Amino acid sequence: MVYNNLLTQITDGILTITINRPDKLNALNYETIQEIGKAVAEGNANETVSGMIITGAGEKAFVAGADISEFAHFSSSEAENLSRDGNLVFHSIEQSAKPVIAAINGFALGGGCELAMSCQLRVAAEHARFGQPEVNLGLTPGYAGTQRLVQLIGKGKALEYLMTADMIPAAEAHRLGLVNYVVPAAELHAKATEILQKIATKAPLAIAAVIRCVNGYFRDGENGFETEIVEFGKCFVTEDFKEGTRAFLEKRKAEFKSK
Ligand code: COA
Repeated sequence: MVYNNLLTQITDGILTITINRPDKLNALNYETIQEIGKAVAEGNANETVSGMIITGAGEKAFVAGADISEFAHFSSSEAENLSRDGNLVFHSIEQSAKPVIAAINGFALGGGCELAMSCQLRVAAEHARFGQPEVNLGLTPGYAGTQRLVQLIGKGKALEYLMTADMIPAAEAHRLGLVNYVVPAAELHAKATEILQKIATKAPLAIAAVIRCVNGYFRDGENGFETEIVEFGKCFVTEDFKEGTRAFLEKRKAEFKSK
């Protein structure tokens, strides 16, 4: 599919989605968010893809936030719809059956930080900076920043950063658990690829189940412990489970088929 605001490329089974609005520091307008959702869905539907990377064009920004120029004149109900639609896309990334890694190549502010947090894992370049600066604009975050920041770094530090709008340098983001790895900018893509390639050697249906179970821990009305019990049972009817256990007993490497 051709996108207006994204570049996409599949290399060695990894779909890289590059947000391509460098002049606007890759700010997320409505169309860009919808396109990201479509690209991730496309990656999930493509049998040749085992994992995805989301990154930003240029060296300065991953994403510098929601596009402020787009919503500056919105009514309350238009703003609520914008937030609701964006939340649906970010939720679909969080629930992606295939792992999505945010490769954070610079500023990840507002919607950029929220996008990164909706991915399963985050790898940051040393110069990356995170933040939820919405209160500077008279706003709360609108793409679940108040929720996922608490999940990742805890209520105390989340409230601090949400209320002060301070930027979080990459090293501090790593210390807080907001990112999994910090690497030199030139190694960012390679690090994300290395992690996805390791995950790609595991059983894909089990990976998808792990993502569902972990998300179940955080979802209102869902008992994640029960989700895990059900998912564990479902693994036993997969060919990959038979192959994985047989390979272990035969002391050889398993060959998984996502079946
Ligand atoms: N929405 C729309 N446009 C944005 C944007 C955003 N969130 N962030 C940056 N841009 C645009 C700027 O308006 C500018 O466009 P112009 O060249 O047409 O004037 C261009 O991107 C470059 O940004 P600029 O501010 O000139 O770069 P800088 O290096 O001086 O500052 C930032 C970088 C990230 C500190 C600054 O751009 C910023 O604070 N952005 C907004 C962050 C924010 O509040 N995000 C949350 C939104 S809810």
